[in-house]
Amino acid sequence: MLVISDIKVLRATVKAWRQEGHSIAFVPTMGNLHQGHLKLVDEARQRADKVIVSIFVNPMQFGANEDLAKYPRTLAEDCAGLTDHQADAVFTPTPELIYPKGLEVQTAVDVPFIGDNHCGASRPGHFRGVSTIVTKLFNLVQPDIALFGKKDYQQLAVIRALTIDLSFPIEIIGIDTERAADGLALSSRNGYLSAEQRATAPLIYQQLQWLAQQIRDQAASDFRALEQQVRETLSQAGFRPDYVNICQRHNLELANDMSSPLVILLAAYLGTTRLIDNLEV
Ligand code: PAF
Repeated sequence: MLVISDIKVLRATVKAWRQEGHSIAFVPTMGNLHQGHLKLVDEARQRADKVIVSIFVNPMQFGANEDLAKYPRTLAEDCAGLTDHQADAVFTPTPELIYPKGLEVQTAVDVPFIGDNHCGASRPGHFRGVSTIVTKLFNLVQPDIALFGKKDYQQLAVIRALTIDLSFPIEIIGIDTERAADGLALSSRNGYLSAEQRATAPLIYQQLQWLAQQIRDQAASDFRALEQQVRETLSQAGFRPDYVNICQRHNLELANDMSSPLVILLAAYLGTTRLIDNLEV
């Protein structure tokens, strides 16, 4: 597997692959890879001739009080996993290479509406950072397809929107969330949890399943009251819920009935760790 940290080398590699007639799949990540990321690589492997993964902890998507400094950086282990899963190349730029002028004067990409609520409301500027880095990476890698986990459901919706709005000729593929045996969605941030918190964390998925069942059983029920019940259950178990929102899948606006396909979006803190998950109903 090629390990590339230079833009010229990246462009030359992609150009050579193109000249040889290869299709290219791209998996953007922030590293600290777990089975969820490796599943994206496996899916990419099935769908294109060449698979390129990026590892870049993007400072632009972290708020001032968030975990940028302590975000786990595990490049050697990540490269070993990517080699096992037959990635062709990993792109590992530094922040200076990606943002040479500094973040204050960096041109940004803003996706309106779809990124405004939920995580967008709780983490101002987060999706602006995600959209900007994904746009830059799409321009650098120029893949045919790009794969993202559905665990970051709103992020996937934002990326689908920017791909259409900015006319990228890239197919965006969402891959189902990988879960531990007890249902907890795999996330690099799970590593921040104490043993006690880790034992409590699966309640998130249990509550999502409970809520989905309530929605299915009582199609005309009061969705806001159901959301409140979940918030109370999580609070009693020691979480600090951020949001529990039953949404319309196509625009992520709050839903009031089952007239269109739904998704439940949830974010909650356990100690200082913010966990997110979702379930399509
Ligand atoms: O989901 C992530 O790991 C990141 O938000 C992404 C898409 C790689 C952009 O930095």
